[in-house]
Amino acid sequence: MSGRLGGRNALVIGAARGIGAGVVERFIAEGAKVVLADSEPVAGAATAERLGALFVETNIAHKPDVDQAVALTVDRLGGLDILVQNAGIYPWTLIENITSEEWDSVMAVNLKGTFLAARAALAVMREKKYGRMVFTSSITGPRVTSPGHGHYSASKAGINGFIKAAALEFAGYGITVNGVEPGNILTEAIVEQRSQAFITSMEETIPLGRLGTPADIANAVLFLASDEAAYITGTTIIVDGGQTLPEGKDFRIRPE
Ligand SMILES: NC(=O)c1ccc[n+]([C@@H]2O[C@H](COP(=O)([O-])OP(=O)(O)OC[C@H]3O[C@@H](n4cnc5c(N)ncnc54)[C@H](O)[C@@H]3O)[C@@H](O)[C@H]2O)c1
Repeated sequence: MSGRLGGRNALVIGAARGIGAGVVERFIAEGAKVVLADSEPVAGAATAERLGALFVETNIAHKPDVDQAVALTVDRLGGLDILVQNAGIYPWTLIENITSEEWDSVMAVNLKGTFLAARAALAVMREKKYGRMVFTSSITGPRVTSPGHGHYSASKAGINGFIKAAALEFAGYGITVNGVEPGNILTEAIVEQRSQAFITSMEETIPLGRLGTPADIANAVLFLASDEAAYITGTTIIVDGGQTLPEGKDFRIRPE
């Protein structure tokens, strides 16, 4: 029962690696019991075993999977206090080349998946009159964007709108709903899917001088999932090293 999440049961979706795995690690270190859900069975099971979580294979875009993940959490842990929906995909495609199918797949995972997770967890949390929902949004969409992120930006801006609506509707049930907006976080997926030139250009635009780590995001998720955030609902925390602050490209104090 010790730790900031002592006695709490959590379901973290999209956590085989990257930010989600960082959240699971932090939650367990703070005393939570965790079910890790992911669409990648091998990596997901291995990460769960390494971190001390239970694993359930889940495609967040598929309602029966999401319902099953919530049911398994309740069954195996004895309840569900905290839901983190972090699964997201970010293919790089210019709008002129985005097919209808690719648009739908990004919306299905990032946006519909968030709705399905909230919907499934609501039924359990409402009974207990307690719940913390935390969704991974992004600075990309709600604050800024760059070429190739049309569908992704729309999906993440949509998550922010959904957070507000869900926070309002669930407030009477003792459930808070919030999100985090990561900036550029150095995860395996970023290394795989973005060029070194992209990563270097991002570093140069971050006032704190480095890309973020999964632990940077996990710390903000932990806060929103904890009782310290009891009076916060319907909002997001930007965790971006100050990247969205500069008005112009050169933010040195005395540009030459
Ligand atoms: N890395 C960044 O710079 C960054 C910045 C802003 C927002 N984000 C967001 O953070 C989240 C995690 O990003 P990441 O960089 O750690 O990515 P990642 O690809 O390393 O992790 C995403 C996880 O979600 C899982 N997943 C993908 N589709 C799924 C599905 N349909 N059902 C269940 N699980 C699924 C993947 O298997 C993976 O384990 C995403 O929502 C992403 O949009 C990342």
